[in-house]
Amino acid sequence: MTKAERLDSLRPEVLGCRACGLRDGATQVVFGEGHPEARIVFVGEGPGADEDKQGRPFVGRAGQLLDRMIAAMGMSRFQDVYILNVVKCRPPGNRTPTPEEWDACHPHLERQLEILDPVIVVLLGSTALKALLGPTLRITQMRGQWIERRGRWWMPTYHPAALLRNPSLKRETWDDLKRVVDKYRELVNPGHDSPYYPIPSKN
Ligand code: URA
Repeated sequence: MTKAERLDSLRPEVLGCRACGLRDGATQVVFGEGHPEARIVFVGEGPGADEDKQGRPFVGRAGQLLDRMIAAMGMSRFQDVYILNVVKCRPPGNRTPTPEEWDACHPHLERQLEILDPVIVVLLGSTALKALLGPTLRITQMRGQWIERRGRWWMPTYHPAALLRNPSLKRETWDDLKRVVDKYRELVNPGHDSPYYPIPSKN
């Protein structure tokens, strides 16, 4: 089976999930989207109001910023990356999901990562970092550093919603995303071009 077919066969299970209470307050489950053969996966926290309405990840203001960040890397949502969340249902009032809720949703995220089998995972913010790499880790300490674990390269960085609240974090976040482009050139495609981070010339 192709990755697209495997994701399609996982979808009904995720959409029918009742493993925690979040589904009760949500309009719909947000599975994730992107290119099934992507070598880079971005992981956010959970759907907000816009995502809950549309059934798609990162479509509100933070999502528009994420799309611009991905474009600056020379990539696009449906051609080069796949976008997931730690929890697939909107927490009421956009509160941060609890560790019990991440745990309940974790098998879905793990299956998605197993199917997508990305080389690089970009962890957007504290919840993604804690849920995937360890609950005691802090985003301010870990961001910008590669962690090689379970056969993948993990890069924690700030969540785009944090950048909207505090634009002074944008510079560090772009530094982190340039590290991601470097790793992509090293491990996936040496010729990958990016409008804001061109391949260094040899002379
Ligand atoms: N914030 C997230 O973490 N995920 C989304 O899908 C949208 C906003």
